[in-house]
Amino acid sequence: MNNPFYITTPIYYVNAKPHLGHAYTTIVADVVSRFHKMRGAETFFLTGTDEHGDKIVRAAKDENVEPRAYVDNISAMFKELWPTLNISYNHFIRTTDPYHISVVENILNKIYDAGDIYFSEYEGIYCFGCERFYIDRELVNGKCPDHQTTPQKIKESNYFFKMSKYQDWLISHIKNNPDFIRPERYKNEVLSFLKEPLEDLCISRPKSRLQWGITIPFDHNYVTYVWFDALLNYVSALGYPDGDLYKKFWMHAQHIVAKDILKPHAIYWPIILKAAGIPVYKHLNVHGYWNVEQGKMSKSLGNVVEPLHLKNVYGLDAFRYFLMREMAFGLDAAFSEQAIVFRLNSDLANDIGNLFSRILTMVHKYLKGIVPEADISSEKELQLDLREKAKLAVDDFEISFETFTFHKGIAAIWEFINHMNKCIDVTAPWVLAKNKSGKKQLETVLYNLLEGLRVISGLVYPVMPDTAKIMQTHLGLDPDKPFYNIDLLKQWNVLSTGTILRKSITLFPRIEHAPEEESTQPASEILKLKPEITMETLSKIDLRVATVLNAEAIVGARKLLKLEIDMGEGKNRTIVAGIALSYSPSDLIGKQIIVVANLKPAKIMGTLSNGMLLAAVDDSGTTIATLDKKVKQGTPLS
Ligand code: MSP
Repeated sequence: MNNPFYITTPIYYVNAKPHLGHAYTTIVADVVSRFHKMRGAETFFLTGTDEHGDKIVRAAKDENVEPRAYVDNISAMFKELWPTLNISYNHFIRTTDPYHISVVENILNKIYDAGDIYFSEYEGIYCFGCERFYIDRELVNGKCPDHQTTPQKIKESNYFFKMSKYQDWLISHIKNNPDFIRPERYKNEVLSFLKEPLEDLCISRPKSRLQWGITIPFDHNYVTYVWFDALLNYVSALGYPDGDLYKKFWMHAQHIVAKDILKPHAIYWPIILKAAGIPVYKHLNVHGYWNVEQGKMSKSLGNVVEPLHLKNVYGLDAFRYFLMREMAFGLDAAFSEQAIVFRLNSDLANDIGNLFSRILTMVHKYLKGIVPEADISSEKELQLDLREKAKLAVDDFEISFETFTFHKGIAAIWEFINHMNKCIDVTAPWVLAKNKSGKKQLETVLYNLLEGLRVISGLVYPVMPDTAKIMQTHLGLDPDKPFYNIDLLKQWNVLSTGTILRKSITLFPRIEHAPEEESTQPASEILKLKPEITMETLSKIDLRVATVLNAEAIVGARKLLKLEIDMGEGKNRTIVAGIALSYSPSDLIGKQIIVVANLKPAKIMGTLSNGMLLAAVDDSGTTIATLDKKVKQGTPLS
């Protein structure tokens, strides 16, 4: 197969369990790998764990276990988490793997023999958290900017790598390859750092201080500095120097990291490669941080977000979508569950979910669920421009995903989705269906809409592989064929006329309550009152008594019921209520309920809800607020 593509994540330290930040980088790598597969590339996706060094020894000590047992346990947590997030890596590397250790020894020998490693005494300031020496100008108010601790002075003899020798080469490499480090802000940051002379890198630790590491092959009193060991994983995993994978993929390497580890990847790593006579990687793709409540996520602050929890509450594809859509790659982003709920309800339930069910429902209602034949001449007369708009969306998607501007690519897909929704409103298939002479036009509109859905199903594949598969199955396509191939997405009239389609399902159920309201803590323990309001504010809420005339379930929405109510207005109202887990429709008919009558109408699962009933929610479920005795419909509450 042509077109090899190699993508890596950082190998994560095993001093803490995986969290949202690790999940984000690894999901990005998975998305990128799937995207390149769409273009017919043979991809190799590497992730793994970084298991040596001081940090790990200290974490193992805190848990009272030997480093070996400790790293085995946490590394397995990473390895087992990724498949549950639909992350299809090709190889999981551990820096304690024997093949990795022998590549590190091999490269250390090579650089030592070439004269780029020397022995010297050094006195400097050392941050134990970062496991590296700092220079004064890197500190902020005398402290390590990452750990907020004052580095300690240490003096010892060590091995040094002649980074300074390669400084000019690196500057011109970065300048000659403008997207070597991207986005540009990080390239500029590196170039500005390189304006000052580079210090040589201390690459050993005496065994008297640290034993948990790879022994330096030319001096058994020392172990290798953890970064020297870790960076080499990117070539050892491919079987450097003779492995077939190395020969096939290394030339196409792209790394993904967050800004915290820009310097080792943008400075140490290219120089190590150069000194070892290995070609330099192609791109370093650098993203920002996910911040929680305005701060960096950290174990000590207790604000670590667990990816599995989010997946379980919101669904895997919604979680993946949120991460890819919400963060502009390169910039920081704020994480909150409210933001996930917002994206889920608006982009997924409303936009794509609604579009999917609208189209399939119409195909079933008007065409017995059979893919019709389109009539190109009526396409013109109906001003159907979906094939052109689809092409624009595919082109935008392709360029954005190739250049790591995913949020833009996703916005282009959603522009097309919104255009499709508008196209339904403009062509009004329900009007065409009423008129026998509109049959050809109806078939043409619905065929084009189905084709549009097919293109969308392919475009969402890298971010939401499960959703793509469900959509495809409903379009009568074989999920085992590469329906997401980008050349196929650039074509039109691919769906076969005459195929019988499955009935629509709800792709993304709406989340009805903000996450705080769903707290599982007993109410008595968290009686947090909302801010005070005035009588004037209260008087704006119009509460009325109404009687339930009819109630029915909403297909695909487990928690919802649709109620027909009489509020004494002369005509009935429809409201949608999230009470289906506590009431069956027949419990409700004839009941008097209390309704917020002047709440702005909102569409919930395709039904317009004109008001909201009052209810109490506690551990036992939902209980509707009722009145002590019957009163007239429409009576206001005060
Ligand atoms: N072991 C080194 C990497 C060696 S690579 C040769 C390391 N490990 S780490 O466990 O600290 O992982 C850092 C990486 O985790 C970041 O670069 C990023 O990919 C991810 N993230 C950790 N926290 C993050 C956020 N809050 N936000 C986004 N990504 C974050 O450094």
